[in-house]
Amino acid sequence: MLTITEEHITDSDSNGESSDVYRLVLGVVDRLANEEALEAYLVGGPVRDRLLGIPATDLDITVVGDAPRMAERLASQFGGRLTVHHRFGTATVDAAGVTIDLVTARRETYRSAGALPDVQPGDIEDDLARRDFTINAMAIPVAGHESDLVDLHGGKRDLAAGLVRVLHELSFRDDPTRMLRAVRYAARFEFDIEPETADLMASALASGAMSTLTGDRLRHELARILQEPDPAATLRRADEAGVLRAIHPSLSAAHLPATSAMPHGPLTWVAALAWPLSAAEAGSLTARLNAPSDWERVISDAVRVRRLSPQLSDPRTDAVRPSEVCGLLDGLAPDALRAAMMLAPTPAANRIDRYLGEWWTVAPRLRGDDVLALGVPAGPAVGEALRALRRARLDGVTRSRADEEEMARQWAEQPNNTAC
Ligand code: CTP
Repeated sequence: MLTITEEHITDSDSNGESSDVYRLVLGVVDRLANEEALEAYLVGGPVRDRLLGIPATDLDITVVGDAPRMAERLASQFGGRLTVHHRFGTATVDAAGVTIDLVTARRETYRSAGALPDVQPGDIEDDLARRDFTINAMAIPVAGHESDLVDLHGGKRDLAAGLVRVLHELSFRDDPTRMLRAVRYAARFEFDIEPETADLMASALASGAMSTLTGDRLRHELARILQEPDPAATLRRADEAGVLRAIHPSLSAAHLPATSAMPHGPLTWVAALAWPLSAAEAGSLTARLNAPSDWERVISDAVRVRRLSPQLSDPRTDAVRPSEVCGLLDGLAPDALRAAMMLAPTPAANRIDRYLGEWWTVAPRLRGDDVLALGVPAGPAVGEALRALRRARLDGVTRSRADEEEMARQWAEQPNNTAC
């Protein structure tokens, strides 16, 4: 578990090299805020991470005033890229290698569970009170020190105790994405979900709160789990808490490996989650998540690879020829195949490893023009001949260009020759 120490509280250099850039940005925000007589605070994740001594990745700033206007001035100071959402009073500046999110301090009310909130301008207390967890509901004035911490909900106490705790009892019903966020922070920091918060989560799940979320919001929050340093650990937490089956009844983490030998991208984890599903379940998961085409493809291909993995699982090395492996795997999404390397029986995983590392890119030495010149008739026969040449090269039947030319000549004479 990460713990909060005196050193972290007093040592503002604990963010390492990046701290210079952050200090520079915060200094400019402070000057701009002074010029307009506004309060500006560092809030949420960066405050939490600073107290834990973890290097910051992004900067989240709350402005008690017009955040988009502040963002415009900041972007012009740094020559950065600006994105403004006037409707929400928020803006993002990408400058000096840092993403700076600026929000107008606001109060939020939820008209219906799972919907986006109604927003009104507020002060820093309102802005902290609308947040998900105590550990994310702290602020520090941009020019301030940790001793100026605004901590109205016991965030520092919960950081020290290793607890993820909501601010009020309707939190999960108002915003069910927080159930995925709770397990994400718990796994990332090796924290516990505070018992009363765990009860609130269980009753929100039991009342079907997750079903009030749109597919897009659900998928977006799931994707953030899959981008964590240890997605499998986070998914296991989500499974234990009942969050996965609330997303879709067929989801579970039981089949995932305890540790993954190498880091994988989020789409590989999407495929890993889909691995045990039937084709029908995969289809309904895709629909529930309003999945874009890349998610849809890895979900359906993961199911396909699992179903054909018995054909790749013979432990005798020569039992399945490389060309047969290619025949089964060609055209399947590489992320689905990477998931299979984690989850399929060892002989199949080894063959998929060879496929991705080597066989996938093997092509015949001859090109279309070459086989035409050797007598293969124009039309579909050219493609067939080239595919036969690829198979022969994969299986070591041909070892040189001369072998391939010989084979192409035979093919031209006897296109149905099964040896080709
Ligand atoms: N937040 C919230 N409820 C949500 C999403 C976000 O209260 N459903 C608040 C939290 O205070 C959070 C902040 O908005 O700290 C910024 O959100 P986000 O960028 O998602 O989280 P970070 O805390 O920056 O966490 P991470 O380290 O995962 O980026």
